[in-house]
Order: sequence, then structure tokens, then C-alpha cells
Amino acid sequence: MNAITLPTPAELTITPRDRRFGRETAAPRLWHGGCVEATAIYNALSTTFPRGEAFFVESVRAFREGAPPRLAEEIRGFTTQEAIHSREHDAFNKRAADAGYDLSKLEAQVEKRLAVTRGKPPIVSLAATMALEHFTAILAHQLLADPRHLEGAEKETADLWRWHAAEEIEHKGVAYDTWLHATRHWTRWKRWKVKAKVMLYITRNFVVDRTAGALELMRQDGVTGASAWAPLLWYLWVRPGMFRKIAGAWGKFFLPGFHPWNEDDRGLLRSYEASVAPAPEAKRKVRRAV
Ligand SMILES: [Fe+2]
Ligand SMILES: [Fe+2]
Repeated sequence: MNAITLPTPAELTITPRDRRFGRETAAPRLWHGGCVEATAIYNALSTTFPRGEAFFVESVRAFREGAPPRLAEEIRGFTTQEAIHSREHDAFNKRAADAGYDLSKLEAQVEKRLAVTRGKPPIVSLAATMALEHFTAILAHQLLADPRHLEGAEKETADLWRWHAAEEIEHKGVAYDTWLHATRHWTRWKRWKVKAKVMLYITRNFVVDRTAGALELMRQDGVTGASAWAPLLWYLWVRPGMFRKIAGAWGKFFLPGFHPWNEDDRGLLRSYEASVAPAPEAKRKVRRAV
């Protein structure tokens, strides 16, 4: 018997929060609590976002024709959110470059991966987007669920990552719903086969490329060899162990009836909203000022 597919919650609205980070204050080069490997892996991730998220937007948009009105609305929210993420991570990456990092090798690797996918039919780009969006959503879930991931990080930079994570959770069903719409005439077996194959390919590249990218940035901090890979692997797989902690959620992608919203983590979104909402006293002051 197949599991029941739970769709995107009917009352969910995708709300772009047009925020800017790090324009006023300069974060230190090792913004993640002075930790070389933590700074390196987040910087390596950020390097992928401006180009990667532009690719997600174009891949989903290619299939918006004929989408039911609710999905079309979700796609609009998704594309706006991703465009703002690209802008903010572009600014973040410029600050990393200003701090002395050379990101060109990492950016070239992202370009290379995207060029391979763009050379295939558009449905492959949508499948890659759908798989990467699941990846992003489970990373985002973990980032917001466990404060240890950003412990010690410079405040405004940590705010950037939390803001991005919250919106990734909010729009996590969009690429998947677009994929279900685009492949509605496929058999379940064909759909599963393609999505499983793409997820395995994406995962291998994601883990290898981000690890290599982080090692390259650590090299630029003068840390090489076992002094680099041992703490990096410890950080990623043991403590705080982001990659290990997402493994269970990653595996659910392959189950029959999978949908990103089978895991209803809107509680994390609500906690995030509560954490950034101005205190009641501040709100009153604003009202009085107006
Ligand atoms: Fe994003
Ligand atoms: Fe996203």
C-alpha cells in the first residue's frame, strides 16, 4: 500500500521578506566564531546561491504555463524569494572577497555543474531543482531546529542564514509541486526512477563539491592536509554534524508518497517569525512616533 501524499498546506502563503544584511557593519573574515572550518563551509555554500538560485527560478518558470492558479501563485512567491536570496548572498560573497577570499574556483565549479544540466532537456533542470530544493529545505530545517549550527557566529551574518532558512522551508513544496504538475502524465515508476537517479547524482556532487570548496577556502586561510580535512569532516559529520543529521530526512525522499510537506515544520517558521518580531514595547514606541 502506498503512503498518503500530503500536499502543501492549504493555508500556507509564501511571503517574500525583503531584508538586507551586512550593509552597515563589517563582519570579521572568520565570521563564524573565528572557526576556520565553519566559516569555510558556509562560505562555500553561499558561493553556490547567486547562480544556483537563478537556475532554480528559470527551471521552475519553464513549467509555469498551464499551472493551476494556486501553483502559479506559489511560483510567484518562490521566484521573488529566490531572487532576493541571490541578491543577499551575492552581497555576502562580495564581503567574503573583500575579506580576502578568492571564490573564483568555487564559482567555476558551480558554473560547470549548471552547464551540464542546462545541456539536457528542461525537465532534467526541473528535477535537479526539485532535488536541490529538498536538500536546501532539510538543511534549513536543521539550521533552525538546532541553534548549535550558528553558535558563536557574528549576529547579522547568522540572521542572514536564519532568514534564508525560514524562506526555504516556506517555499519547499513549490519545485516539487511543479515537478508533479509537469510529470502528471508519467507513470509513477518513471517519475520515481528519474527523481531517484537525479537525487543520487545531485547528492554526490553536493557533498563532494562543498567539501572541496571548503577545503580550498581553508587552504586560503593557511590550513591544509589533515589539519584541514579532519576538523572539516568532524564539523560536517560529527559535531554539530549537519550532514549526518539530515541523512534521515534525505532518505525519505525515496519513499513512495513522498512530499516535502509530509514533514510539517511550520513550527520552525513561527519560532523564526517570533524571534525577529519587534518587542511589544518597540512596537508601541513606533506607533507613538507615527
Ligand atoms: Fe533560497
Ligand atoms: Fe529555495
